[in-house]
Amino acid sequence: LTTAATALALTVTAGAAMADCDDGEMVIKFAHVTNTDKHPKGIAASLLQDRVNEEMDGTACMEVYPNSTLYNDDQVIEAMLQGDVQLAAPSLSKFETFTKKYRIFDLPFMFKDINAVDAFQNSETGQAMLDTMQKRGLQGLAFWHNGMKQMSANKPLLSPSDAEGLKFRVQPSEVLVAQMEAIGGSPQKMAFSEVYGALQQGVVDGQENTWSNIYGQKFFEVQDGITETNHGIIDYLVVTSVDWLDSLDADVRDQFLTILDEVTTTRNAESAKVNAEAKQAIIDAGGTVRTLSPEQRQQWVDVMKPVWAEFTDDVGQENIDAAQAINA
Ligand code: LMR
Repeated sequence: LTTAATALALTVTAGAAMADCDDGEMVIKFAHVTNTDKHPKGIAASLLQDRVNEEMDGTACMEVYPNSTLYNDDQVIEAMLQGDVQLAAPSLSKFETFTKKYRIFDLPFMFKDINAVDAFQNSETGQAMLDTMQKRGLQGLAFWHNGMKQMSANKPLLSPSDAEGLKFRVQPSEVLVAQMEAIGGSPQKMAFSEVYGALQQGVVDGQENTWSNIYGQKFFEVQDGITETNHGIIDYLVVTSVDWLDSLDADVRDQFLTILDEVTTTRNAESAKVNAEAKQAIIDAGGTVRTLSPEQRQQWVDVMKPVWAEFTDDVGQENIDAAQAINA
């Protein structure tokens, strides 16, 4: 841990509703960056914590650190490889330096909805993607859903040309950089925890995210409105280190992975509902939501979709074909 992270960890441990780990229990630290309620990842992480702490009592104890209180997504993988944290669930856009295979999830208009994403992830190709970073010391355990991305800015966005010249915050993904350049925007990579302040201060003009993130981080308060584009997805990889997983006794590992599997199935089935509720909560709080006519949406498709060509070699034409077959 860095000194700053240690200080933060101490503060968080002292101040938050942290699980009470008993002596002799293996502590499983799970760091993530979103809020905990009205959020697919936040809810799933809390459920995982509750079940581990109840069913593995005496053996293991999970501590969840939400809201970037322990690490942001740029730091968490490094901390995991050093053994300072055992579990994380960064979005698939955050693994750029470890694998290019996940770029398929960032390509705009690749998946028509979260059910298509689910089917792709549960296919043989998708499941094999859990293992693509083993050589780098990382083991994917499950895919967790968030949902479809929407666009927002400090002015109305109806046609892609409305985005021309605007600065957009993006996750650290070259696909998302290319996507924002395709609409004439100027992309800026930035940690999630910094986006609200950057929008508020005009460091960036706009961003893309799911309803639950736009609600949870209050982005709608510092944007003109949200345009319902459903142009891409945010999903997560629940990830651990190969070393940590290997260090577990087989029965402990099996019990933990069974709980994780059940939590994944239960909460993934609810992700669309959680995002729909977050969308309604934005409207109830006075946020502006704009919808597109089919013709307007087609303009976004026409401008964004050509970025696929740049990344076909990274993701594999056969995987694109498989994803499109699921959409059909
Ligand atoms: C983002 O950085 O916008 C998202 O990946 C945050 C998250 O974890 O949903």
